[in-house]
Amino acid sequence: MQDVLIDSADGVMTLTLNRIEKKNSFTQAMYGACADALLQAADDASLHAVVIQGHATIFSAGNDIGDFLTRGASSQESQVFRFLRGIVAFPKPLVAAVCGPAVGVGTTMLFHCDLVYAGDNAAFSMPFVNLGLCAEAASSLLAPRLMGYHRAAEALLLGEPFMAETAMEMGLVNRIVPPSEANQLAQAQARKLAAKPLPSLIETKRLMKKGQMAEVLAQMGEEGESFGRLRQAPHAKEAFSAFLEKRKPDFAKL
Ligand code: COA
Repeated sequence: MQDVLIDSADGVMTLTLNRIEKKNSFTQAMYGACADALLQAADDASLHAVVIQGHATIFSAGNDIGDFLTRGASSQESQVFRFLRGIVAFPKPLVAAVCGPAVGVGTTMLFHCDLVYAGDNAAFSMPFVNLGLCAEAASSLLAPRLMGYHRAAEALLLGEPFMAETAMEMGLVNRIVPPSEANQLAQAQARKLAAKPLPSLIETKRLMKKGQMAEVLAQMGEEGESFGRLRQAPHAKEAFSAFLEKRKPDFAKL
């Protein structure tokens, strides 16, 4: 079974995260598959929108932690950067359906989606600091802007999760529904977009995003440098090993 299912119908491409046994954590191959699919969707004039969805119990546990531990230094050409640049620059509407945990990139990718529909079980978290890492996907810029600095500090410095209601109040989520209905709602909204004139969708999205595009790309580049350095350092290695060994990390010994 593929870890990302890619399907196109009625003007909508759907990316379904499908590595449920590992809580839809992202491998490099999954980032690569999503990046390729976004490029294809951007180029295909018959496609007007892309939906990213998971399962009713889990959106994504973020980056695969084993991969964090074993992968060498990342370059800006790595699959994760291709994916992040792909969602930032995607010219057509991106719609997400989020149920259950949305950890790390599972939350940060949502800053770049145009519409987000959440199950009432959705739990968003950006525990980068807890893992010895730092913010990514321009979340260090966009979280304070969207949530206000102090709420962003709770989410990014303490790594505290927030639930669907809070995410909706902040403006990160459009609507909350029972988990069994979230994917359906995202699909229905994407089909509404598919019936609209594509050049108008593209132009309107471009105009809404252009004010901060250069800033977002620059921030993401700087975060990427720091993230790559921290990922190779002892605190992160201790945090990754602790997760895989199902124990609490011990940063005091470092
Ligand atoms: N990378 C690799 N494997 C992961 C993973 C990740 N990010 N998240 C979950 N898994 C694996 C677990 O190791 C476990 O594997 P096993 O069955 O071989 O032991 C399996 O997925 C199920 O995970 P588990 O933790 O038992 O599920 P849960 O329902 O109790 O908790 C989460 C779900 C998402 C809350 C929890 O798995 C979690 O916190 N994951 C890590 C999130 C994270 O820190 N991501 C990195 C962000 S930068």
